[in-house]
Amino acid sequence: MPIDDKIQELEERKEKVFSGGGESAIAKQKAMGKLTARERIVALLDAGTFHEYDIFVEHSGQDFGMQGKSLPGDGVVIGTGSIGGQPIAIFAQDFTVAGGSLGLMHARKITKIMDYALNMRLPLIGINDSGGARIQEGVNALAGYGEIFFRNTLSSGVIPQISVILGPCAGGAVYSPALTDFVFVVDNISKMFITGPEVIKTVLGEEISMEELGGARVHAELTGNAHFFANTEEECFQQIRKLISFIPGNNTKKAVTEPGETLEKHDISSIVPVDPTIPYDVRNVIRALVDDSDFIEVMELFAGNIVVGFGRINGETVGFVANQPLVLAGVLDCDSSDKAARFIRYCDSFNIPIVTLEDLPGYLPGIDQEHAGVIRHGAKLLYAYSEATVPKITVILRKAYGGGYIAMGSKHLRADFVFAWPNAEIAVMGPEGAANIIFKKEIHKAENPQQMRKLKIQEYKDMFANPYVAAAKGYIDSVIAPDETRRFVSHALEVSKDKTVYRPVKKHGIPPF
Ligand code: HXC
Repeated sequence: MPIDDKIQELEERKEKVFSGGGESAIAKQKAMGKLTARERIVALLDAGTFHEYDIFVEHSGQDFGMQGKSLPGDGVVIGTGSIGGQPIAIFAQDFTVAGGSLGLMHARKITKIMDYALNMRLPLIGINDSGGARIQEGVNALAGYGEIFFRNTLSSGVIPQISVILGPCAGGAVYSPALTDFVFVVDNISKMFITGPEVIKTVLGEEISMEELGGARVHAELTGNAHFFANTEEECFQQIRKLISFIPGNNTKKAVTEPGETLEKHDISSIVPVDPTIPYDVRNVIRALVDDSDFIEVMELFAGNIVVGFGRINGETVGFVANQPLVLAGVLDCDSSDKAARFIRYCDSFNIPIVTLEDLPGYLPGIDQEHAGVIRHGAKLLYAYSEATVPKITVILRKAYGGGYIAMGSKHLRADFVFAWPNAEIAVMGPEGAANIIFKKEIHKAENPQQMRKLKIQEYKDMFANPYVAAAKGYIDSVIAPDETRRFVSHALEVSKDKTVYRPVKKHGIPPF
């Protein structure tokens, strides 16, 4: 047969696979506001860069009820391409083929691209849209998930792993995304749960819709399983492209430097009220510090009392961890500790320096928090800061009280540079609480206890509510004016470029998960 005919045959074979589960399944997919697997990949990647592999893989088993069934590509598309010039590996489950369910060959395709990603040190993106383990394939399907989870764990901290939930992600299938670094969800499209509404109704008699149980908002706001929330698939792809531009391709690299506006900013002092009881949005401080005011927030809708995300200073990616006085006065609690700790570990794994902006009254008191395990969760933050060996720079904007002072990137957890504004207050606790405890007798005995309390609060403020006690002990490297912050931080980053520290040799630590 002449080569042209062979090519013709190839094109026809490809065409058959590309038609996925057929017209009616594709129409159903579209009616749900969803793109098909290949359309998603094309929309996400740089134009013309996608190269698909294992196109002709088919389900070929004789499993229960599957005889003679044709499953083009076995319900998943895999390949490599690039995003903003960064090479990546990708898989996308094709819901139009057997509901994107995962059988033996489906799993083999995914694990093949995962192996490529790890061996080539490429970021891996997984688009999930699946009914879960292919019931007809029994233990082969379960084995497939196990192989995926193992590879997720092996790749953790070596290559960035991104999960995009663009349909159902049910049963044990949720654990692959949960093992990855960033999970993206889209409103009204993403659905994640271990057991669905039907099972819950049968077993517990509880009724709930799929959306209320595990929709995008639930995971972005409530559970913290999702890191980015979008209203449409298109918006989601823009978010992924932006994230990729900020992070390095693997753990041996640094993020690509982007030239940006590097002018000294002069408006920071006007953002932060001197009165430590007046809230403000710390994201405005971050935007005033970073190049082009360009800041990408991670987990924006979860645990708003702490803000984490990426920006650039002098073109280099920096991870920000900042208390948010707008929400719960910026206290630390279970969720904010988890959120910050995980982000810090990401930055540390991928050579991204950490800038901490501190302004908090401490850990949130209360029975709820104690019983929710604030000891265990709060310890994660201490662990993450202590463990991190990337450059760590902390700026105390206003309050730094108690355990909050230690936990938020203090010198004692090996911050490289700690700066404090002149109005910073660093003490074991706030003046009111402290005066009530240590001057209890004097206040009680005084003729005018109210007046005495005021006097003692002022005395305490004069003594402790400033940065100079800490500076006198070297716990603060410099007391700086707010408008000098960018200059000091960018200089600290500059001189920390070749930071090298050694830690005791061990297999791994045991963080308080
Ligand atoms: C085989 C499946 C399937 C599955 C869907 N399909 N899920 N086939 N195994 N797990 C098939 C359907 O039979 C149907 O085939 C096609 O996919 C589309 O499914 P529909 O039900 O018509 O679509 P829809 O109404 O949109 O509902 C989607 C759905 C539902 C909500 C995902 O299909 C569903 O509830 N599926 C089962 C979800 C589930 O319980 N998964 C957990 C499995 S256990 P036809 O031929 O009719 O088009 C698990 C454990 C893993 O995952 C453990 C790992 C550690």
